Amino acid sequence: MDFSAISTEQLPQLLLDMPKAELHIHIEGSLQPEMIFQLAQKNGITLSYPDVASLRAAYAFTDLQSFLDLYYAGASVLLTESDFYDMTMAYLQGAVADHVVHAELFFDPQTHTERGVPIEYVFNGLHRACQDAKARWGISTHLIMCFLRHLSEESAFETLEAALPHRHLFMGVGLDSGERGNPPEKFARVFAKCKALGLRLVAHAGEEGPASYIENALDILHVERIDHGVRCVESDALVQRLVSSQVPLTVCPLSNIKLCVFKTMQQHNLPALLSAGLNVTVNSDDPAYFGGSVNVNFTELFKAHPGLGAKEAWQLAKNSIDSSFVSQDQKNQWLAQLNDFFTAAVAVQ
Ligand code: HPA
Ligand code: ZN
Repeated sequence: MDFSAISTEQLPQLLLDMPKAELHIHIEGSLQPEMIFQLAQKNGITLSYPDVASLRAAYAFTDLQSFLDLYYAGASVLLTESDFYDMTMAYLQGAVADHVVHAELFFDPQTHTERGVPIEYVFNGLHRACQDAKARWGISTHLIMCFLRHLSEESAFETLEAALPHRHLFMGVGLDSGERGNPPEKFARVFAKCKALGLRLVAHAGEEGPASYIENALDILHVERIDHGVRCVESDALVQRLVSSQVPLTVCPLSNIKLCVFKTMQQHNLPALLSAGLNVTVNSDDPAYFGGSVNVNFTELFKAHPGLGAKEAWQLAKNSIDSSFVSQDQKNQWLAQLNDFFTAAVAVQ
């Protein structure tokens, strides 16, 4: 493909319209302040903020934990199956507008079961929304259940046990929440059990935690993808390993800026990782909290890095499809769609 035939004027629209997969999105992080207030009112929950504007104003984070405190408070308005359904439909409708053909959604059952919400409300609400979105808009989805790493191994095992009646509804498991002081090895036995059950494995690592957390997620948890992973650059050996293994990193540029992992988008290392040959993807993480959807992430990233062009856009979209947990047949269909899309863009010239 002659990417040089695509002009810089064309690029912003291509980023928006190209088919892509989103592999790192916490569905509870898609809950917009307006919906938080609407659900709070419906469910008789009093929030510590008087209105949408003051809640939004509190979205000024200094690190991961300062975000998580608000994120868990926001999720506390979810009580019924229809709450989970409505939240998921709203995200998927936006994803369709972003030309996301496939999304792998993280969800945190412990955030809800700890408040007395039955786990089946979570599963049924999410699953029904995924089914309806597929029927209505054609979007494909998988669910990935995350364990909260600040909680105990015992709590993770209990969550897995409670989820097993719904095993057919989720594709894999992940590990999220506060990274520092909660290394991957804390969940070695949980992940071994999940692997034995045939679940696909991913984990957040190297967002705030050191490069060794990425190595331990690979060596001890045997994950197939690393969520974030941007601190891999602190180990040359690890960078080499990620290049040769092509283990995907699901990077979330706006999240990293909002949580002060990088000071500015210009300083974000995604372009360097991409040109070094790592298998990186672009994702939104928690779109309601960090400034926007996957397309906003693409737009802001490319705006800050003029060296990124059509070839890199294509590569990032290709990586997202290649790194998903769908069948090779399905990947081939979307990859053909992606190549047709870029071929048409070249032909416009
Ligand atoms: N990191 C860890 N846990 C999370 C995140 C994140 O970026 N978003 C939601 N839970
Ligand atoms: Zn995340």
